[in-house]
Amino acid sequence: MKESNMSQHLISPSILTADFLHLEQEIEMVNTSEADLLHLDIMDGVFVPNLTFGFPVIRQIKSVSKKPLDVHLMIINPDRYLEQYRDVGADWLTVHYETCPHLHRTIQNIKELEMKPAVSINPHTDVSLLEPVLKDLNMVLVMTVNPGFGGQKFIQASYDKIRKLKKMITDAGADTLIQVDGGVTEENIVDLIAAGVDVFVVGNTIFSAEDPIRVTANLKNPA
Ligand code: DX5
Ligand code: ZN
Repeated sequence: MKESNMSQHLISPSILTADFLHLEQEIEMVNTSEADLLHLDIMDGVFVPNLTFGFPVIRQIKSVSKKPLDVHLMIINPDRYLEQYRDVGADWLTVHYETCPHLHRTIQNIKELEMKPAVSINPHTDVSLLEPVLKDLNMVLVMTVNPGFGGQKFIQASYDKIRKLKKMITDAGADTLIQVDGGVTEENIVDLIAAGVDVFVVGNTIFSAEDPIRVTANLKNPA
């Protein structure tokens, strides 16, 4: 095995732009691909100007997914539902910094429910706000578009934020992963890996591709 060519980063396809009339086939496609996780975008029409799906849908997705579920909550008051997300099969649970006035408590509750806690920040939110909780987190999600919709353009200013976060993690001696979500393509993934990203949420680039399995492989093993 060529150790030096092995990629360490993870790919988490977001089903937001999948074909919901054939969701089972879409998830089977992800199962057979080189993807590491399956990303589910939960929107409440309040925190973000869009709505997606609820618990019964997640439960059914869980029953066919061979990949761990990476659940991204774009909802206000996420604390009310943590246990229910665990019960329907969330493995990783991401809450938004902007929705959690008692973030430390929320993170502890996610851990007690035996899910992996992550916190997401919107493009305008300064990453240094997460410094006090960095060591409690398995992952920080840096939004690289404004949350709410798939297929948007990657915000270039995200690179500085990712580099700053990478330095914060290194300085703290933490092993927190950096995830990005929004506008990831076969073109920008190489630069993002160099900037320090560990986990890539990818919606449109995979689900709008003619050969999504090949595109996932390209993202996992970029040239
Ligand atoms: C946006 C969602 C993303 C979205 C990414 O609010 O959190 O997960 O599906 O989609 P692309 O990769 O199409 O930008
Ligand atoms: Zn997402």
